[in-house]
Amino acid sequence: NKGKYEHYMQKEIHEQPESLRTTMRGRLIRGGSSKGKTVLLGGLKDHLKTIRRSRRIVFIGCGTSYNAALASRPIVEELSGIPVTLEIASDLVDRQGPIYREDTAIFVSQSGETADTLLALDYALENGALCVGITNTVGSAIARNTHCGVHINAGCEIGVASTKAYTSQIVVMAMVALAIGADTISNQGRREAIVDGLIDLPNKVKEVLKLDEEMNDLAKQLISEQSLLVFGRGYNYATALEGALKVKEVSLMHSEGILAGEMKHGPLALVDENLPIFVIATRDACFSKQQSVIQQLHARKGRLIVMCTEGDVASVSVGGSCRVVEVPRVEDCLQPVINIVPLQLLAYHLTVLRGYNVDQPRNLAKSVTTQ
Ligand code: UD1
Ligand code: M6R
Repeated sequence: NKGKYEHYMQKEIHEQPESLRTTMRGRLIRGGSSKGKTVLLGGLKDHLKTIRRSRRIVFIGCGTSYNAALASRPIVEELSGIPVTLEIASDLVDRQGPIYREDTAIFVSQSGETADTLLALDYALENGALCVGITNTVGSAIARNTHCGVHINAGCEIGVASTKAYTSQIVVMAMVALAIGADTISNQGRREAIVDGLIDLPNKVKEVLKLDEEMNDLAKQLISEQSLLVFGRGYNYATALEGALKVKEVSLMHSEGILAGEMKHGPLALVDENLPIFVIATRDACFSKQQSVIQQLHARKGRLIVMCTEGDVASVSVGGSCRVVEVPRVEDCLQPVINIVPLQLLAYHLTVLRGYNVDQPRNLAKSVTTQ
């Protein structure tokens, strides 16, 4: 039931404040003064000791679910102190890459039925790793075959392009990081700030959704382009990859997410006055580096669209010469949840304007159950 919306993707983008609330429901605890604010993940609580003892955490997924893990890696590393690696499920299986008994392997999948991810799960089980699922589908193969896990509870996602599952996956992985790190005194202040950020996040997503018209307007400008580059780094490298994936899979426009730190190692050669480039430059530890990326792209006459934190227009627009999208600021590790929303809206509007099927993109299936 699409309700007042024309497409499921549109509905699912706009219901993110609500889906995020359901993801967090009953899981954020404001304890007494001694315990502070904390998280409770029923599906993990008996396994946290084992996870904390593991030598490595390996996230495994495909497509958007992989991107969600990429967005969450920094906070999991920071709060757990455990090395975190990422695997695209098919690539892990192709390589028969090393997975050990001392590893915690976390399988991220909206559907819980993706063939590549399931094969990687079988492989990790055979190798003796603790296997954890993060899925949206109760009773799915991933939920059944993992040792433990967390349901993201985002509600049924129908559009082939994953939107609300992505933001809920990131929130769950931030909560997993909080749960693993909960026995460490030194980062308590940081953890409490993240819990506060989580509580307020649905309101901030509601605010960023007000950019709908502005993104429709931007889509009109980009309607006949051949290609769109998206530059990000740090917490928002994932936003660049995921934004580009959304644009390409539904609007059928070529789009590529680029790690801004790699700019001079190749991508800079593509820059001219015609190719549109979306640069994510919201406030975090990488901000000044992104400012310098903007300067350098501008010096090569790049056609820039910059995403920045509210109030930062003057610091990113190189003398008012580029288009700017302002988004609300949240805790750095949660910023990817906010920043993906304008790109989801852009992909949606581009698709409608270009006349393609939003909910059933050409050649794609919602759940990829074959290799
Ligand atoms: C559970 C209930 C929820 C109830 C809550 C009250 C279910 C599905 N969830 O939520 O309805 O409101 O208790 O305390 O009944 N699991 C896996 N692999 C996965 C995902 C989950 O093994 O990929 C396991 C978990 O380890 C756990 C169970 O499935 O044993 C349920 O997980 P989850 O729904 O996340 O747990 P709660 O949030 O505690
Ligand atoms: O159900 P899963 O999360 O395992 O699906 C993984 C990918 O197939 C999926 O995210 C795909 O990339 C989406 N169409 C992206 O929008």
